[in-house]
Order: sequence, then structure tokens, then C-alpha cells
Amino acid sequence: MRLSGATVLLTGGSSGIGAATARMLAAAGARILLAGRNAARLQAVAAETGGIALVADLAVPDGPAKLAEAAIRAAAWDCGGCEAAAAGNGIDILINNAGVGWAGPLTEMSAATVAQVIAVNLTAPIELTRLLTPTLGAGGRGRVVFISSIAGTTGVTHEAVYAATKAGLGCFAESLWYELAGTDVGVSVVVPGAVDTPFFARRGHPYGRTRPVPVSAQRVARAVLIAIERDQAMTFVPRWFGFPAWLHGAAPGTFRALAARFG
Ligand SMILES: NC(=O)c1ccc[n+]([C@@H]2O[C@H](COP(=O)([O-])OP(=O)(O)OC[C@H]3O[C@@H](n4cnc5c(N)ncnc54)[C@H](OP(=O)(O)O)[C@@H]3O)[C@@H](O)[C@H]2O)c1
Repeated sequence: MRLSGATVLLTGGSSGIGAATARMLAAAGARILLAGRNAARLQAVAAETGGIALVADLAVPDGPAKLAEAAIRAAAWDCGGCEAAAAGNGIDILINNAGVGWAGPLTEMSAATVAQVIAVNLTAPIELTRLLTPTLGAGGRGRVVFISSIAGTTGVTHEAVYAATKAGLGCFAESLWYELAGTDVGVSVVVPGAVDTPFFARRGHPYGRTRPVPVSAQRVARAVLIAIERDQAMTFVPRWFGFPAWLHGAAPGTFRALAARFG
């Protein structure tokens, strides 16, 4: 799929992986609709990338629907002669990137925080995809991208709810991949390990391991662009994370023994 001239709705565009992805998409000639809560940070990334900022809270019940409406309006209104106009003034690519973490023993997690993590990481991507898939890539190719996590593939101690949301997202995407096979809309899942972004500071629990060393947000952004351009169904960042994911599926007992031994 060509990125030049494509219109992209990118959630979580105000920080970390999202901001890095926005910069790379802009350099590739895409037109970006950036979503996030923090208006000032969102405007700064929008100004830098020539994108349109859409302030939206994905944790509230009508947040995803309001964002979908605003994005459809923005894509139709400000096409300015771009190639997307010829393709139908619509959104071509939806990147479900916004996410929040929480770490600690499950019994110390409040019900409100459980609801927030599920709403942002799982309900919002499902809702945005449900609402926008019929409009994606009108007249051309469309794509939905999900930013998952290695936590959702293997499980991680003290991140049970976060891991569950990412596992749910992966299974949702896999099912959608089957459902949309043979249509003009493709599905990609990008599975990062640890990434050097404000994510850990925001969840109030720093990244405490020495290994694996967190990769840069730019590296994940590059993987997102490649997944779109090459129609990749699933990609791990770094690529070697595909091995623990495979081992967990193929030999869960061995994986658990190794995880207990090495952390
Ligand atoms: N960093 C890692 O190690 C890592 C590893 C694997 C997967 N991931 C995943 O990568 C994605 C991006 O994370 P990141 O590392 O770039 O973290 P980040 O720098 O904290 O960015 C998170 C983004 O999500 C947005 N967001 C959070 N809550 C929101 C809400 N209620 N409504 C709307 N937007 C909301 C934030 O926007 P505002 O601040 O403007 O609200 C921000 O733009 C997440 O899905 C995360 O789970 C991260």
C-alpha cells in the first residue's frame, strides 16, 4: 500500500510511538489526523507534521464514536487537492496506537483503573475499527493497524489487566484478518517489547529491568510503516521477540520454567 497521499487516523499521536509514527508518515507524504487528550502536545506534533489535531478522550463511553465522527468530517473537509480526494475524501488507514499501562499486584488495582485500561486499550480500538472499517480506503486500499505488546502474547507478572487487553486486541485483529480477507482492507498487528517512551513514567511504575534494553519509538514507527507498505499481518519489534512468542505457544511449560528462572 502506498503511503503518499493516504489519509491516516492515528490515535495516541501526542506522544511516544504515536508522535514518532506521525513524523515518519508525514515524511512519506501521508496526511495525518492525530488523536489524543493533551491538546498542547497534540497541536505541537500536528504543527510539525502538517497534520490535523483531534482532541478526544478514548476512556469515556462515547469517546471513540465522537472521534470517528470528527475524523470523517476532518478527512472530507480538508483534503486540499490531495490524492485522497480522488479516492473519496475518506480515511485510508486507521492506526490504533493509544494505550495506557498499569503495573502492580492485581488486588491493588482499583476498579476504575481496570475500567480505564480496558476502555483505552481494547474497547476504543474495537469501536473505532467497527465504526470506520466500512469507510476505509474508499476507492482504493485501506488498512487497520493495532499496536499490541509482547505482554499480550506471553503474559507478564504484575501487568495482568494490561496484558489481557493486548491479548484481546491481538485476537480481535486475527479474527478481523480472516473476516476481511479478500476485501480491500488489510489488517496489521505490531508487537513491541519495551520501548523508550513516557509510557512507564505515566503508568507510575518505571521500567525496572536491565534487559531487554528498550528500543526507540522511531524503530517501532518504522515497523508500522513497513507493515502497512508490505501488507504484513504481524510484526515483532525487535524481531527476536517473535521467538519467546513462538515458544510460549509451542511449549508453554518450558516458557514458564524459563520465565520463572530468568524473569
Ligand atoms: N512503551 C512501551 O514499552 C510499549 C511496549 C509495548 C506496547 N506499547 C504500546 O504502544 C502504544 C503507545 O504507547 P507509548 O509507549 O507511545 O506511550 P505514551 O508515550 O504514553 O503514549 C500513549 C498515547 O496514548 C494516548 N492516550 C492515553 N490515554 C488516552 C485516552 N484516555 N484517550 C485518548 N488517548 C489516550 C496518549 O495521549 P494523551 O497523553 O494526549 O492523552 C498518548 O498519545 C500503547 O498502546 C502501548 O500499550 C508500548
